[in-house]
Amino acid sequence: MASSLNFFTFLILFFHFQHSSSFSLSVEKPEQDIIMSPKGTFTAGFYSVGENAYSFAIWFTQIHKNLNNATVVWMANRDQPVNGKRSTLSLLKTGNLVLTDAGHSNVWSTNTNSSKPLELFLYDIGNLVLRERKTNGFILWRSFDFPTDTLLPDQSFTRYMKLVSSKSDNVYSSGFYKLLFNNDNLLSLLYDGPQVSSIYWPYPWLVTSETGRSSYNSSRVAKLDVWGNFRSSDDFTLKTSDYGAVLLRRLTLDFDGNVRVYSRKHGQEKWSISGQFHQQPFKIHGICGPNSFCINNARIGRKCLCVPGFRRIHNQDWSQGCKPSFQLSCNNKTELETRFQRLSRVQFYGYDDDYQANYTYKQCKHLCMRMCQCIAFQYRLDLGVSYCYPKSQLQNGFSSPNFQGSIFLRLPKRKHVHFHENVVKNDILDCSRNNEVKQLRRSYVEDEENGPMKFMLWFTSGLGVIEALCFFMIWWFLFKNKKHFVRDNQGYVLAGARFRKFTYSELKLATKCFSQEIGNGAGGTVYRGLLSDNRVVAIKRLHEANKGESEFLAEVSVIGRLNHMNLIGMWGYCAEGKHRLLVFEYMEKGSLADNLSSNALNWGKRYKIALGTAKCLAYLHEECLEWILHCDIKPQNILIDSNYQPKVADFGLSKLLQRNNLDNSSFSRMRGTRGYMAPEWIFNLPITSKVDVYSYGVVLLEMITGKSAMISILITDGEKTHNESLVTWVREKRRKLLEMKSLVEQIVDPTLGSNYDMVKLETLTMVALKCVEEEKDMRPNMSEVVEMLQTHEHDS
Ligand SMILES: *[C@@H]1O[C@H](CO)[C@@H](O)[C@H](O)[C@H]1NC(C)=O
Ligand SMILES: *[C@@H]1O[C@H](CO)[C@@H](O)[C@H](O)[C@H]1NC(C)=O
Ligand SMILES: *[C@@H]1O[C@H](CO)[C@@H](O)[C@H](O)[C@H]1NC(C)=O
Ligand SMILES: *[C@@H]1O[C@H](CO)[C@@H](O)[C@H](O)[C@H]1NC(C)=O
Ligand SMILES: *[C@@H]1O[C@H](CO)[C@@H](O)[C@H](O)[C@H]1NC(C)=O
Repeated sequence: MASSLNFFTFLILFFHFQHSSSFSLSVEKPEQDIIMSPKGTFTAGFYSVGENAYSFAIWFTQIHKNLNNATVVWMANRDQPVNGKRSTLSLLKTGNLVLTDAGHSNVWSTNTNSSKPLELFLYDIGNLVLRERKTNGFILWRSFDFPTDTLLPDQSFTRYMKLVSSKSDNVYSSGFYKLLFNNDNLLSLLYDGPQVSSIYWPYPWLVTSETGRSSYNSSRVAKLDVWGNFRSSDDFTLKTSDYGAVLLRRLTLDFDGNVRVYSRKHGQEKWSISGQFHQQPFKIHGICGPNSFCINNARIGRKCLCVPGFRRIHNQDWSQGCKPSFQLSCNNKTELETRFQRLSRVQFYGYDDDYQANYTYKQCKHLCMRMCQCIAFQYRLDLGVSYCYPKSQLQNGFSSPNFQGSIFLRLPKRKHVHFHENVVKNDILDCSRNNEVKQLRRSYVEDEENGPMKFMLWFTSGLGVIEALCFFMIWWFLFKNKKHFVRDNQGYVLAGARFRKFTYSELKLATKCFSQEIGNGAGGTVYRGLLSDNRVVAIKRLHEANKGESEFLAEVSVIGRLNHMNLIGMWGYCAEGKHRLLVFEYMEKGSLADNLSSNALNWGKRYKIALGTAKCLAYLHEECLEWILHCDIKPQNILIDSNYQPKVADFGLSKLLQRNNLDNSSFSRMRGTRGYMAPEWIFNLPITSKVDVYSYGVVLLEMITGKSAMISILITDGEKTHNESLVTWVREKRRKLLEMKSLVEQIVDPTLGSNYDMVKLETLTMVALKCVEEEKDMRPNMSEVVEMLQTHEHDS
């Protein structure tokens, strides 16, 4: 029997690869299946980049084995990690080196061909080469020709290459910073973000001669030598602080956009920085537009904030920056009418109207005051010398704890602007993106794949080997497998690892032909489904699916990247022909609406749900990179998990279906549900995130009063009776009863009895009333709501 199994394995390999491979490394033995350089300096193999996710990489061999923190210098497939089961790197007889994901899709290959015997060899300088197996054999491929974010000594960096930073400290996929030779032959650092891109090194406002570079040498090569000298053909040189010593070195474009040279002694673990391109790392371009600045720290990641007295221009796009919420003209920019507000450790660079050394603060202030266009000045003291820069524009702002200076903003004297640092604190609680990509969830259709295999094993052991029949079986298996190959491949290319693409027939099967309808929300009907791996899911079938497939996919992948504990998880999608479906996690406890009507929620649970929902909305509204309006907040769209944590569902459909309109920040058509819609919809005013705040306020009122916002309330006012909305009803009560406490007693849900906490209920009512203000600017934003609710979270 064993021999027949081997025979099968052989056949499968044979057919799968057309020609069997001459050598292969398996992901399942990451500690043994490695290639080490002769002296052991470097190791190549499968490197874990997340849960059950691996990339084929080269790293500095570790002295203390701890496979999670090696210094990786190269990766084959940084944007497409492979499954921890059945993935292999194989050298085929055709001469191609391929990386296969879970046995069936190629995620990377060297695209080489050769009929000669080949070998994969890792040099002690960190270069992995595919070469002919003989002395001085021909080299077909070298990892040195395809750097990721690191250059090693003696590795030439040419016009055909670029270094691309990784996303963050421990997330290896491609980030936004690039090192390359630009068209002027200059080695440059580029921020290439989703909205804007700009070169930030050499400083764009300097002419080439001022940078000490030369744009006349078009050979465009650069190299770090073993002694620690980096030299580029444009005359840029960087001599490391430990130049000349025999050390291990590397030059890395770090995730924060700076290029640093690191060195360490042989036999040591710790790297030290021995040189960097950007002497002032906070000057690196980010994504914050005019009048806003970026704060960036390890705990909260990168965020933009408007300077005090300024408002965000476009909710979706930080690159547009912020605009003043006051007006100053040259006439009223006098000392009597203006004052300067200090923002410590924040720097805006470029756009200086003047520069004065050794000015006192007072002199600098007067200099700015005398210039009509001066809107702020940067003032910095450094080793006893002061620097004064009046500015007409605030661009490229960055907050850095290492920056010993301040920006002083010119503001109207009477205008009260409060700028609270705790905006930042809230964000820490709400939008933690830290482990965003680390938790790669990989799902495969195990059933269908293992099915034929298991069947084959059973067949062979039970009946013995009938070869002819087996050949037929193998063909059948391979034929099925081919189909998988195509399908899965598409899914991964699009969305990375977090979710996948489903076929229409798969979802039809999962929902038993769309038989179990569980809801009917914005733009689609929701069905319960059971996936082949036994996960229960909610599948939403979109009605309004007139989008092109690629457009739909682009938007789905944006939503698929969102990740918040109070946001319903999206596991995949389907776009086939005219079908557009989304696959979400399923919540057994149903929606807030169900729970309210069945009186299942005590007071503590209601408060928890209010807070969780607010946190989720704050995340959707105020996140730096993604921005999404919900536009249909109502109890039906707030689902409850087994711990009574809320999960907001149906998010992002506004984006999916109405993106073009969102870009103009006006909608051609009303969205949302009657009873929850902000007045802006009715009066055709610009739509901002405050529409969600309004709907959220209505939901709070429902949770407090137990009354539905969709049903009008009959009010008896002396003689007259009339119908009123929930909001008007509470507002009227509020007008009559000055004391919050007596208001609360009048409106509270009678099913709660006396079983509630007065302080929390007052807070909730106060927040709800603020959220449903007619005037959108009077409503708080969601992070302020979170803050207000959190203050009383642990009171009781
Ligand atoms: C490899 O492929 C290239 C282009 O497809 C072809 O020109 C070349 O002859 C092939 N070499 C071998 C050894 O098959
Ligand atoms: C251009 O740069 C290369 C590499 O630094 C150097 O070898 C070459 O001499 C330079 N050419 C000129 C004309 O300066
Ligand atoms: C890896 O972790 C070990 C133990 O935690 C530590 O001693 C070592 O310095 C780390 N290595 C690197 C390169 O960070
Ligand atoms: C300054 O003058 C402009 C128009 O000249 C006016 O709109 C604005 O309100 C004035 N600002 C202050 C603070 O007085
Ligand atoms: C500023 O003051 C320092 C120390 O007093 C002096 O060395 C420097 O030359 C001055 N710079 C200018 C531009 O006056």
